[in-house]
Amino acid sequence: MELTEDYENLRKFRLDGDGHRPQKRNPEREVGLAELDQGKLSPRVLYTALGLCILLSVLTLIIAVILMMQMWSETKRLDAGFQEELSNWKSKNREVNNTIMELQSEISHLWSNREVNNTIMELQSEISHLWSNLSLVQSISQWKLFKQSLYYFATNKITWDKAQEICAFMGAKLVVIKSGDVKEYIRGNIKCEHWIGLSDAAEEGNWHWVDGTKLDPNVMFWRSGEPNGAGKENCAQMYMDGSWNDVSCSSKLCSICEKRK
Ligand code: BGC
Ligand code: CA
Repeated sequence: MELTEDYENLRKFRLDGDGHRPQKRNPEREVGLAELDQGKLSPRVLYTALGLCILLSVLTLIIAVILMMQMWSETKRLDAGFQEELSNWKSKNREVNNTIMELQSEISHLWSNREVNNTIMELQSEISHLWSNLSLVQSISQWKLFKQSLYYFATNKITWDKAQEICAFMGAKLVVIKSGDVKEYIRGNIKCEHWIGLSDAAEEGNWHWVDGTKLDPNVMFWRSGEPNGAGKENCAQMYMDGSWNDVSCSSKLCSICEKRK
């Protein structure tokens, strides 16, 4: 017992290796260390850890709230942008709708306008006219050269006036025959009964060529008994054998156009 106390006293006042007196003993610290040695935690450590945990949780909560507020304000901002875009789009849509309606009313107004309507109809008839002439113009390569003239033998059947019009469209006239060899050349090329450029429409019995010259009584090839003026026959045709006949100008025949060189 005495020995133990002595030892204890010695231990208390012992100097360390460098000759310093050891620090005053801290019983609490020593208990804590002892508990640590035994694998136990002191309440102070526990409270500190708990405090840290609470602090961390509060910090996390604060950060989460801040982030959520940021997201909410961003969502609000995007939503406002979207709403603005939507309203712009709606107003543009309204504008386009109004323009379409205005145009529609303009169009129906134009259609109800008689002048415009007439112009459209005229244009349509002009177009169909051009289309009908186009088929003839397309076959321009089929013009045949004889002596001083080019001849085009059109096989579509049309009236005398129409034939003249189509020849004129191609810069030509219905054929004028002032010699036997031209008559023979023409006869050799025809495949149907054709109009020739001879008429007495201006004055009955007074036959004129489309070039304005009078029919030469020495150069004419009427079939025997013609022209008989049967009914109202003011235009001349050529039969397949080359002879001529007066016939109604509204008959529909093939035609021969002539272009002088
Ligand atoms: C006559 C012609 C007449 C023709 C009318 C013939 O039978 O001989 O003179 O122009 O008919 O289509
Ligand atoms: Ca006749």
